Amino acid sequence: MSDKAILEIDGKKYEFPIIRGTENEVAIDVKALRTVTGGVITLDPGFKNTGSCSSTITFLDGEKGILRHRGYAIEELTKKASFLEVAYLIIFGELPTKEEFAKFDNDVKKESLVNEEMKEIVNGFPKNAHPMGMVSALTSALTAFNPKSVYVGTEDEMYKAIVILLAKFPVLAAWSHRRNKGLPLNYADNSLDYISNIMQMLFKLPTEEYKMNPIAVKAMDELLILHEDHEQNCSTSTVRISGSSHVGLFASVATGVSALWGELHGGANQAVLEMLEAIKEDGGGVEKFIARAKDKNDPFRLMGFGHRVYKNFDPRARIIKEACDELFEDLDLNDPVLEIAKHLEQVALKDEYFIKRKLFPNVDFYSGIIYRALGIPVEMFTVMFAIGRLPGWIAQWKEMRENHEPIGRPRQLYVGEPLRAFKEYSER
Ligand code: SDX
Repeated sequence: MSDKAILEIDGKKYEFPIIRGTENEVAIDVKALRTVTGGVITLDPGFKNTGSCSSTITFLDGEKGILRHRGYAIEELTKKASFLEVAYLIIFGELPTKEEFAKFDNDVKKESLVNEEMKEIVNGFPKNAHPMGMVSALTSALTAFNPKSVYVGTEDEMYKAIVILLAKFPVLAAWSHRRNKGLPLNYADNSLDYISNIMQMLFKLPTEEYKMNPIAVKAMDELLILHEDHEQNCSTSTVRISGSSHVGLFASVATGVSALWGELHGGANQAVLEMLEAIKEDGGGVEKFIARAKDKNDPFRLMGFGHRVYKNFDPRARIIKEACDELFEDLDLNDPVLEIAKHLEQVALKDEYFIKRKLFPNVDFYSGIIYRALGIPVEMFTVMFAIGRLPGWIAQWKEMRENHEPIGRPRQLYVGEPLRAFKEYSER
């Protein structure tokens, strides 16, 4: 197999190294392109053909629908490990021993108290503020209360910043929900596991005992594992590039929360439920909505469908769909939007427009149905995605800093006005 790529420009040939990944992906190393060609660059809006980094964290195969974290298949991780155990794997590279996990779990719990003054920020938001906006602001504000976390020059400093964020982020996320509902802000409960603690912070009322439902905790744990990392998606790339300026971890993750909020990315899980509800309100027929999704003159898209990388199926969507059926059976639930979602999937997957463009359900298509079954309000769906994605953001940021990657600063192709003389008002 060749280890060189040859580029010819104006009759002159340039050679560039070919690098191969663990699974034989092939990349052309163009680091020297501008220098050796005297200024030529590549142009790739949306980076559909451009690798931003080499990474050892997650492997995706879009054609085969493969998702692995540090070499472990997502199907095994969701069935055999807990959310915090997978977080340890993604961040530190290996599945923890019992002792390593016990220490990690304890170190996170030791940081679960959030500075009381942060409640002033929460209460400063209008009640109807979108929780994603609150979580982004609160995550950035964490730096003010933990200023040393900006400096991660030693392993201990990096570890400390990581456990602080893993501990406090879900508290802030739960507080954004409680603010929306006008409810008192709960503290973390260190007697509980990571996911059970999130459930009690979201739902526990001061006036009665909160009854933990193990079936709901298991479904949430599995669902959030499916969100933990997804290589260089939009929000993770945002975390990496903002972190490359050496801003602190919390401020970088705050930028990732904002990027995830967009409806083309993590905001899709909220948009899917709103779409399914609209179909239900419209009588339940899906054909009209599929026709709109195909109409180039209509900005409507089938939310929860399509993916930049997966071109056959999103393995996470398959697992979530199965988890949906299991949860609804276990809890004896019935939600008409689940049937509408299944019908929409069946009709779309037989439609030439979707087949030709390789569009099918992604991770966001069924996840909202589970969140709703677990009592999560629709405006909190993307916050739950952010809680799930936090370990991946942390791991990718840590890898970027430990690899001493240069500050991210893409080039551009200027296509604006050539040089022109200034015009006085009288000449305009
Ligand atoms: C996530 O990257 C990640 O890994 C993301 C994520 C993660 O874990 O981090 O997996 C999470 O963000 C999942 C995606 C959630 N977003 C949605 O469900 C929103 C709906 N989907 C799309 O907007 C779209 O499919 C994207 C954004 C997901 C992917 O967009 P691409 O790769 O830029 O593809 P494209 O927009 O160029 O579409 C190619 C064609 C176009 O038609 P043509 O111009 O070729 O005729 O497919 C069409 C698009 O119009 N198309 C859709 C469609 N998605 C793409 N048409 C109707 N409905 C859709 N959902």
